[in-house]
Amino acid sequence: MSGSPPVLGSVFPDFEVDTTKGPIKFHEYIEGSWAILFSHPADYTPVCTTELGTVAKYADQFAERGVKLAALSCDDVESHKGWIKDILASQQIEGDDLPYPIIADNNRELAVKLGMLDPAEKDAAGLPMTARAVFVINPEKKLALSLLYPATTGRNFDEILRVVDSLQLTANQKVATPANWTAGKDCMVVPSISDEEATTRFPKGFNKVDVPSGKGYIRLTPDPRA
Ligand code: BEZ
Repeated sequence: MSGSPPVLGSVFPDFEVDTTKGPIKFHEYIEGSWAILFSHPADYTPVCTTELGTVAKYADQFAERGVKLAALSCDDVESHKGWIKDILASQQIEGDDLPYPIIADNNRELAVKLGMLDPAEKDAAGLPMTARAVFVINPEKKLALSLLYPATTGRNFDEILRVVDSLQLTANQKVATPANWTAGKDCMVVPSISDEEATTRFPKGFNKVDVPSGKGYIRLTPDPRA
């Protein structure tokens, strides 16, 4: 029982679902925005409770980046609504709702369709639970990044903000971001452009790192948005 995960660069599947904020058509919901769909194994589970609370606390930072959020958990809307009260109380969040919808996927239709099952984690009925998937979707509705964690490992949402910064920067500039990059740090000129083109594209210049091979492929340039 497993579907195929969406492929990077392909149009993310559309679907109509019920959520804690009413029914949505996914493509309409994300229209023209960056978007993140993140999934959870089940309601009333401890790690998921911390994750959903953390995303609520980071909601302003995602909004600053123009990112629409949607969570998914394999239970129904009534269950989600009860669980939200626990999330808010246990994660010390004011208000009476989360700032994003939780999709109901009690029959696991979407979890299967999007290839999000974790065969190693089974529920009480012996069925595989949903893994912790993260899909970052660009304004053209194409899959820009996917992550898949097992149910037993909670995600780091600082990393997810960081990858959004990288994806949004590299979507518009001929740069790539090196290991552990964060916004404002030096970037790499992409290998596909020549030194001549790099000189025109990057008015702040670029530095070529000397390497034993003599191949000048490591070219650092300041973050063009800094
Ligand atoms: C959790 O969210 O805490 C969890 C869910 C499934 C398996 C293990 C942990």
